[in-house]
Amino acid sequence: MNKNEFLWGGSIAAHQCEGAWNQDGKGVAIMDLVTQGTYETPREICQTIEPGKYYPSHDGIDFYHRYKEDIALFAEMGFKALRISIDWSRIYPKGDEQEPNQLGIQFYQNVVSELLKNNIEPIVTLYHFEMPVHLVREYGSWTNPKVIDFYLNYCQTMFEALKGKVRYWVTFNEMNHIDPQTEASDIFTYIIAGLKYTEMENKKQTLATISYNMTLASVKAVKLARTIDPTNQVGCVFGLTPAYPLNCDPQNVMNSLKETDREFYQIDAMCMGKFPEYKLKEYQAQGIDLTVSKADQLAFKEGKLDFIGLNYYSSSVAHYEGDDNNEETLFGGVQNPYLEQSKWGWAIDPTGLRYLLNYVYRRYGLPIIITENGLGALDQLEEDGSIQDDYRIEYVQKHLDQMEKAIVEDYVECFGYLMWGPIDLVSATTGEMKKRYGFIYVDKNDDQTGTLERKKKKSFDWYQEIIQNNPTFKA
Ligand code: BG6
Repeated sequence: MNKNEFLWGGSIAAHQCEGAWNQDGKGVAIMDLVTQGTYETPREICQTIEPGKYYPSHDGIDFYHRYKEDIALFAEMGFKALRISIDWSRIYPKGDEQEPNQLGIQFYQNVVSELLKNNIEPIVTLYHFEMPVHLVREYGSWTNPKVIDFYLNYCQTMFEALKGKVRYWVTFNEMNHIDPQTEASDIFTYIIAGLKYTEMENKKQTLATISYNMTLASVKAVKLARTIDPTNQVGCVFGLTPAYPLNCDPQNVMNSLKETDREFYQIDAMCMGKFPEYKLKEYQAQGIDLTVSKADQLAFKEGKLDFIGLNYYSSSVAHYEGDDNNEETLFGGVQNPYLEQSKWGWAIDPTGLRYLLNYVYRRYGLPIIITENGLGALDQLEEDGSIQDDYRIEYVQKHLDQMEKAIVEDYVECFGYLMWGPIDLVSATTGEMKKRYGFIYVDKNDDQTGTLERKKKKSFDWYQEIIQNNPTFKA
């Protein structure tokens, strides 16, 4: 593989595509208990699998059995990289076992081999909303530091099992969403830690503890990865949303700074060699009890990231006085009147990508890879079987234009673009299939009908050409 090659490709996640939820020894993971919702109706988070309810992760798009066919299609598009996630509950079904499940390991070894055979660089996320339920029930999830050890044990198993084959690792996906924006944010705390926000006792303390333990787990995993193979490159992925000021009223500018920055403390902790003082003081002022031990201090020092993964979909406007009637966005802030929104209310803002690439690069000086970006849309299957998804082409093209500006004009070191959901898969926030992101259509509907057949959309050929014509992005 050419080291100067720009990593063009896509990102998928186990619980949204694999299916086979109870096969080959897999345990129950948190998303296996979440039903299908819609834009209007939130997904229901159940205690157990209830008959008559539909849990989309159980079938996904059957990537578990069709991964060869899907990887062949990614290769046909010219992918240089594919970001996958490992479902922890396939490797340690309950999370606290002594021995891993060999069939689970074998599956990921097979997927990685298939990628390498197709000259596709595997980028492996170790935690993308896939925690064994047992760890939540028996140990209280990430509130309990024992879970850090279980996580590290699982990481070690995978670092060793895929040693020499996987060069890029991601410790966590979007742990920054642990701090919910609204009271209605059960799904966010749940996907990150398997716990509902509304049911948490002592909410602030619980969230701070979870966030701290996950951040600590990440830095420890970085060190572990390097100990096992010094050539490992380890990053963490964050889902970031800039909150613009409404105008130049200094108060609005200040709100913008605060709201945009709100979720950066974890990145600070992972890049700057220590858990940030300003956050500790904020916790102290709020009566939150959190101590950074000497051992933790060392862990922060020794586990700095090699790169940052950026998931970017949307921007918002920071709260301002009198915004009460404005629609709140999913990720905080209110809607921006200058921007159009997707059918799911996500503001479309390509410039926001350039803004964030600059913001993150100037703050940390670390290489960045865009690990997710894409448009969830309603696709129409034409009578001739084609899917004319010009809106998706337009969305991705505009974002690529801004990425190019960031790289070529602003000198941001960005080494790849991974489009989210290059093949249609289950939506994380709504559980729908009809919120489609892919360049590849999957014949599966929300009423569970469909043959699971894969079809190329118009955007498939378009992305193939983009990759062919732009092997590198050098300033
Ligand atoms: C990201 C997640 O936040 O957004 C993905 O990492 C998710 O798992 C993606 O699928 C898009 O969100 P949604 O709800 O449209 O699937």
